Amino acid sequence: MKSQKKLLILPGDGVGPEVCNEARKVIDSLSDLSFELDIDIDLIGGASIDKFKTPLSSKVLDKARNVDSILLGAVGGKKWDSLSPSERPEKGLLELRSKLNFFANLRPAITFKEVIHSSSLKESKINELDILIVRELTSGIYFGEPRKKGNDYAFNTMSYKAEEIERIVDVAFKSALERDKRLCSVDKANVLEVSQLWREIVDKKSSDYPDVKVEHMLVDNAAMQLVREPKQFDVIVSSNLFGDILSDISAMLTGSIGMLPSASLNESLKGLYEPVHGSAPDIAGKGVVNPIATILSVAMLMKYSFNEPTIFNKINDAVRKVLSEGYATEDIAQKDSKVISTSEMGDRIASYV
Ligand code: IPM
Ligand code: MG
Repeated sequence: MKSQKKLLILPGDGVGPEVCNEARKVIDSLSDLSFELDIDIDLIGGASIDKFKTPLSSKVLDKARNVDSILLGAVGGKKWDSLSPSERPEKGLLELRSKLNFFANLRPAITFKEVIHSSSLKESKINELDILIVRELTSGIYFGEPRKKGNDYAFNTMSYKAEEIERIVDVAFKSALERDKRLCSVDKANVLEVSQLWREIVDKKSSDYPDVKVEHMLVDNAAMQLVREPKQFDVIVSSNLFGDILSDISAMLTGSIGMLPSASLNESLKGLYEPVHGSAPDIAGKGVVNPIATILSVAMLMKYSFNEPTIFNKINDAVRKVLSEGYATEDIAQKDSKVISTSEMGDRIASYV
């Protein structure tokens, strides 16, 4: 008898439900899984605020604890913009990341040659680009105490414990070992004490990985280098806030943020999988959002949490095949593309899987 694995899908807000629908089609088309997949769907973010007055209910948090992995669409939207940070839809996502200890956020930025024209950079700068951003996800300024807002004064704290830096840096070194063995650690050590600690730990760790070539870079320079000469990077490791910013830059280098998946893993490789893009309320409900980032997040789920590397390749190949046939959602279309809807993109990819 096949074993069973549980997946919780949290579509969230904005375009989240649309992209999760298409990801679901792809999951349903997988006929050769080595396990049975039990899928549950529930609310997070604004959708949860509207129904339960909280962006992450204790029921959903419990469910999340009891499944093998989670697929999430996106959270947030104008409707909830007036709420304070502690009540907003985003808080649901941040709590889920932190309560389940999904500290290792992997954000690959890979150029698909079929959509290279959508990039604002010259083709020669980004063809065959393959960067992996390893972002610390459960500490740093997002979660640092103290924090406070008054009427004319507000503050947040960027803080890291040595052990929190060590474990993310370790993931980054391991990832680099499996790739081109180059690691760039990004910080602001010319200004911040927290970055100086970060640097010390990276240097200490590097003696465990003598085959990996390590470089330190200040975050402002890293942002510039990413648009100047992105192919100089292999793996980038950074703190929560810097990683957030750098991963949006790298995503856009490849042409469309609508193409890029992410995995957030805990120590036991249970994961939260999400597209890098947000809830895009301006295009929600119009059937135009690109579902590929979420579909590729399913591919990452199969590889990292469900140990199915063949299915990872299969989904990636199906995406490439549909793109190479000239089909595109609006965000990646060029003059001679066959522009199709979100749902048709999902159907086509699922049919090739
Ligand atoms: C991301 C997003 C989130 C973050 C938001 C929605 C809280 O920008 O996943 O990159 O800042 O981490
Ligand atoms: Mg972000």
